[in-house]
Amino acid sequence: MPRESAGSGFSRRQLLIGGAAAAGAGAATALGAEAAMRAVSEREASSTALVEAASATAIGEAVVPFHGEHQAGIETPPQAHALFVALDLRPEVDAPALRRLMRLLSDDAARLTRGEPALADTEPELAAVPARLTVTFGFGPGLVARAGVAAPEWLRPLPAFSVDRLQSGWSDGDLLIQIGADDPMSVAHAARMLLKDARSFGGVRWSQRGFRRAAGTEASGTTMRNLFGQLDGTANPVPGSADFDVVVWGDGGPRWLDGGTGMVLRRITMDLDAWDRVDRPGREFAVGRRLDTGAPLTGEAEHDDPDFTAVSTLGFPVISEVSHLRRSRSDDPRERIFRRGYNYDDAPAGASVSDAGLLFASYQADVDRQFVPIQRRLDEVDLLNQWTSPIGSAVFAVPPGCEEGGYVGETLV
Ligand code: HEM
Repeated sequence: MPRESAGSGFSRRQLLIGGAAAAGAGAATALGAEAAMRAVSEREASSTALVEAASATAIGEAVVPFHGEHQAGIETPPQAHALFVALDLRPEVDAPALRRLMRLLSDDAARLTRGEPALADTEPELAAVPARLTVTFGFGPGLVARAGVAAPEWLRPLPAFSVDRLQSGWSDGDLLIQIGADDPMSVAHAARMLLKDARSFGGVRWSQRGFRRAAGTEASGTTMRNLFGQLDGTANPVPGSADFDVVVWGDGGPRWLDGGTGMVLRRITMDLDAWDRVDRPGREFAVGRRLDTGAPLTGEAEHDDPDFTAVSTLGFPVISEVSHLRRSRSDDPRERIFRRGYNYDDAPAGASVSDAGLLFASYQADVDRQFVPIQRRLDEVDLLNQWTSPIGSAVFAVPPGCEEGGYVGETLV
C-alpha cells in the first residue's frame, strides 16, 4: 500500500477507478459500487498494514539490557531466533588474554544489544535493529582451567548415556556465545562482530542455529511447540519467581559463579519420518500430554497437575509410567531444571526429507544434582527415546552479569 493512501484512505488506483466510472452512467453505477467496495477493502488493508508496520517496528526496536546481576538471555522471554556458537581457545590464551577477550566481547555485546554499532563495526546499519538481542557467555572447563580458578565439580562433559550418539563436532567447547533476537539479521550481525573480535583468541568449534515461532505471531507467554507438534516447556519454573531463583541462580558453587548458573546444551535429533507413522493417541501416550492443549492426559488445561494415580477402565495408569512426562518429573523438588530450547531444521542429506530436532538448552544451578538424575531416568526408559537421539552435548558455567563498564567474567579473571 503506497504511503500516500495511508492518511486519506484513497489510493491512486481508486482515483483511476473513479475516472473510469465517469465514462458512462450504467458503467458508473457498477463501477461506483465496485470502487466503493474496493475503497473499503483497501482502507481496511491499509489500516492493517499500518498496525503491522507499527508492531513490526516495535519488535525491531525492543531492547533487553545487557548489564545486570544475571546475564540476559536466560530469564529473558525466548526470542524467535537463537545461535549457539562454541569456540576452542588457542593454546597461548592465558588469564590476561582471557581478560582482554571478555572485555572486548562484553563491550561489543553491550553496544549491539542497545542497537548501536560495535567499535569498528563494518556494517553499522545492521546494528540499528536490536530486536531484543541478547548475548550470553558460557565458560567450558578448558577456559576455567586457563583462568586458574576452581571449577564447579559439574563443569565437565556429562556422563555417557546409552541413548547418546554424540559427535565431537557438536560437543564441548571452551567459550559459548549464545545469541538470541527476534530478527535473524540481528543475530547474524552480532555473531559476525563477536566472532571477528574473538578470532585471534580462538576458532569456531561448532555453531547451531535454532528458531521458534516468529515474534508477534502468538500471544506472548505461549509455550513453544517443537517440531513433533508438542507444547514444550509447560512444566518450567516461572522466570522472575523465587522458585526460578533457586532452580537457576541457586548458590553453592565457587564464588565467581554467584549470580550465574550451569548450562547444558544437547543437540537432539527428532526422527520426524518415524514420528509420522505414530497415530495421535500413540503420540499423546508417549509424552502423557495432549497435543492440542498440552494438558496432562488426566486434566483439562495445560497447567493442570498430572494425576499419576488415575487408571483407565482396564486398570492401567492413564499417564504411562514410561511416558516422557512421568520419567522426566522427579519426586525430588531439588531435581528440576529450566528448559529454554530451540528447534532446528537443517538441510537433509541423502534420501531423507528432514534433518530436524531440538537444541535442548537447560539452565540449572548444579548440573550434577539437577540435570544428570533426570537424564539418567530418561536413559533407563522413556517412550520418547524411540524417536529422539542426542548427537551433541556440552556443559558450560554461565558467569553472573556485569555492570556498565565491567565485563562478563570479571569475577573469574
Ligand atoms: C527431543 C527431545 C525432547 C523432547 C521432544 C521433549 C519434549 C517434552 C515435552 C513435550 C514435555 C511436556 C511438556 C513440558 O512440560 O514441557 C517435556 C517435559 C519435560 N522434559 Fe522433555 N523433551 C525432550 C528431551 C528432554 C531431555 C533431554 C530432558 C532432560 C534430561 C527433558 C526433561 C524434561 C522435563 C524435566 C520435563 C518436565 C517434566 C514435568 O512435568 O515436571 N526432556 N519434554
